[in-house]
Amino acid sequence: MEVVAVAAALGLLLLAGAQGSVENEVRETEAVRELLARLLGPELAASFSVWVKRALAAASGLDTYRLSGGGAGARVQVLGSTGVAAAAGLHRYLRDFCGCHVAWSGSQLHLPQPLPAVPGELTETTPNRYRYYQNVCTQSYSFVWWDWARWEQEIDWMALNGINLALAWNGQEAIWQRVYLELGLTQSEIDGHFTGPAFLAWARMGNLHSWGGPLPRSWHLKEIYLQHRILDRMRSFGMIPVLPAFAGHVPKALTRVFPRINVTQMGSWGNFNCSYSCSFLLAADDPLFPVIGSLFLRELTKEFGTDHIYGADTFNEMQPPSSEPSYLAAATAAVYQAMTIVDPEAVWLFQGWLFQHQPEFWGPAQVGAVLKAVPRGRLLVLDLFAETKPMYIHTASFQGQPFIWCMLHNFGGNHGLFGALEAVNRGAATARLFPNSTMVGTGMAPEGIGQNEVVYALMAELGWRKEPVADLGTWVSSFATRRYGVSHREAEAAWRLLLRSVYNCSGDTCTGHNRSPLVKRPSLQMVTAVWYNRSDVFEAWRLLLTATPTLATSPAFRYDLLDVTRQAAQELVSLYYWEARAAYLKQELVPLMRAGGILAYELLPALDKVLGSDRRFLLGTWLEQARRAAVSEAEGHFYEQNSRYQLTLWGPTGNILDYANKQLAGLVSDYYTPRWRLFMETLVESLVQGTPFQQRQFDQKVFQLEQAFVLGTQSYTSQPQGDTVGLVKGFFLKYYPRWVGGSL
Ligand SMILES: *[C@@H]1O[C@H](CO)[C@@H](O)[C@H](O)[C@H]1NC(C)=O
Ligand SMILES: *[C@@H]1O[C@H](CO)[C@@H](O)[C@H](O)[C@H]1NC(C)=O
Ligand SMILES: *[C@@H]1O[C@H](CO)[C@@H](O)[C@H](O)[C@H]1NC(C)=O
Ligand SMILES: *[C@@H]1O[C@H](CO)[C@@H](O)[C@H](O)[C@H]1NC(C)=O
Ligand SMILES: *[C@@H]1O[C@H](CO)[C@@H](O)[C@H](O)[C@H]1NC(C)=O
Repeated sequence: MEVVAVAAALGLLLLAGAQGSVENEVRETEAVRELLARLLGPELAASFSVWVKRALAAASGLDTYRLSGGGAGARVQVLGSTGVAAAAGLHRYLRDFCGCHVAWSGSQLHLPQPLPAVPGELTETTPNRYRYYQNVCTQSYSFVWWDWARWEQEIDWMALNGINLALAWNGQEAIWQRVYLELGLTQSEIDGHFTGPAFLAWARMGNLHSWGGPLPRSWHLKEIYLQHRILDRMRSFGMIPVLPAFAGHVPKALTRVFPRINVTQMGSWGNFNCSYSCSFLLAADDPLFPVIGSLFLRELTKEFGTDHIYGADTFNEMQPPSSEPSYLAAATAAVYQAMTIVDPEAVWLFQGWLFQHQPEFWGPAQVGAVLKAVPRGRLLVLDLFAETKPMYIHTASFQGQPFIWCMLHNFGGNHGLFGALEAVNRGAATARLFPNSTMVGTGMAPEGIGQNEVVYALMAELGWRKEPVADLGTWVSSFATRRYGVSHREAEAAWRLLLRSVYNCSGDTCTGHNRSPLVKRPSLQMVTAVWYNRSDVFEAWRLLLTATPTLATSPAFRYDLLDVTRQAAQELVSLYYWEARAAYLKQELVPLMRAGGILAYELLPALDKVLGSDRRFLLGTWLEQARRAAVSEAEGHFYEQNSRYQLTLWGPTGNILDYANKQLAGLVSDYYTPRWRLFMETLVESLVQGTPFQQRQFDQKVFQLEQAFVLGTQSYTSQPQGDTVGLVKGFFLKYYPRWVGGSL
């Protein structure tokens, strides 16, 4: 009972922003009804009766929904304690009673008629106060170029998945721009400070400045507009948007205006030099600290209102200037105190990533200093990578501060099938039962979205379950059935194979970072090891193809067929790379030319062609988003270049090379393929001439190709070409036998 009492007390302390009022109930009811109409169309929506009533939450105050009705002639009744709870209830009905699927890659919404009856009444209460969504990086890797239409879709997805706490970080640079001007910086100093749009996530954490900038004025206007719409919609569902706050980083130019301020220059970050990193941190006891912090928050909340939860990251992936607990405590307290000047109810949402990222710095004394510097209940910690490296275990449940158990899952928005579904499935329930657990929520904190949807479907479901899913095999079969709209034996078998292989990573080496040689700069030391049996992927591929005659009309199936084909291609790249490398080391020219030739002149072009048949796998679609965010041709070019950098070199010299890699048609043909060709040709030349392969020389040459791609102006189509199923079949017939007879 003790455990429950601690969590409940913290939960109550954190109820800020969820006060009930009749107006809110009406507003949230209306919001869910509109969502329903967007999702199903007005006619079908009329078969539902949706209401939001705070009283449903009963004594616990926890989000609750109740389903009833349906069946011949009767409307389906959806009652929720908040808009989010009602939307989650609606999703539950669509999922479990109608066999529907709401997805990024294409929803399956064929409802049975009449709408199935809910036997009696189904009431569900979430086990925790919060279901959180996003990572600071998601804003750059996935959302950066979005317009309102795309945001609207995402907020609907959030509501249906029961998310009630999420970052709302658009438009903050526009507010900083006002604050900096007020402080006396010139416009050109401000322009020299901000990064470009694709790199704002890291500017916001103080990791970077200037790189890929400056931000155009039109950018600020668009972002302010978007932020208003985003906040309005999130609040209409009863979600809590988390706004940013001042973390202590200041532009260098501030030292011109205030020569006597006490700043410390931080070390460099991510292989960037000090032209773009080594940001300036204002000392906690400098009188300007609370001034800047409160100026920003006042201006921000004046523009956007507030729900009292704020995010800020002072030392994310950056070594603090001192490991003295008193220093860390002061630096932390200053951030919190600056919030409370403007908002006495402020709660600080804190990414706990840094603790596990630099464990050699963050010992118990250092972690303790940070956790104790903010009153208990006012620091809400995101245990960001808890499915792999849970920190609550090593910190006695964050020393009594409330925390949210988050699945991070994805780095850089990479394609690449990956998941630790068993760990995800058990993780949240285990954390809840930890002695004196202060867990108050579950979360999804991917750096990038739009991949591996099965993982997010499971996590979203867990946000409303007290126990793990009993049998993941059964669960994944029904996932496949809902996703495609029919039960299909081969498709389900394919999914079970994926579950036991790519989606069953275990241990603390699991990361969602795709290191396949396909997407990495070639060398003789590439990593080809994987955590699963590759034969499972090839067998799943074969099974999915078997299912095509029945399932080809399903957009989600076509996505998966292509995605598994893409995965098979990346396995094949490893195979041919390995053969070519072995031949080279044995100085066998013909086998080298054979394997290298297939990889660089057949396999990759064939993959590009298959990807090119689906608009969800086109570089053209990706870049078009960036261009559409611009108001002029010049700006369109600038945004496109930001986008190309992010996908490839990341920084001017390949500073975080290929971190945010994707497998898109266009990127495969014009970025990955040329460098593989250069590599194979260099190896052949080395054998023919009897000169050793020089990685350093190769890197210099290949950088020219990489940079040429980024700075290039070739346009890529956003129109798919060719028939996916036909192309996949051809690809399969050619390469599946090579795998079966292969030797990796
Ligand atoms: C940092 O790197 C950039 C790009 O390579 C270069 O132009 C600049 O001179 C470097 N700055 C410093 C301070 O080394
Ligand atoms: C500047 O701040 C640091 C801590 O960030 C502190 O150690 C130092 O004494 C301060 N310097 C002055 C002159 O106040
Ligand atoms: C849990 O809290 C109680 C009361 O504060 C304490 O006595 C007990 O040692 C704690 N248990 C653990 C495992 O930390
Ligand atoms: C996942 O792997 C673990 C061993 O690491 C095993 O116990 C478990 O059964 C596997 N799950 C599935 C669904 O294959
Ligand atoms: C991988 O799976 C295949 C096919 O199921 C099987 O024949 C093979 O023995 C497996 N390999 C390993 C290392 O388990």
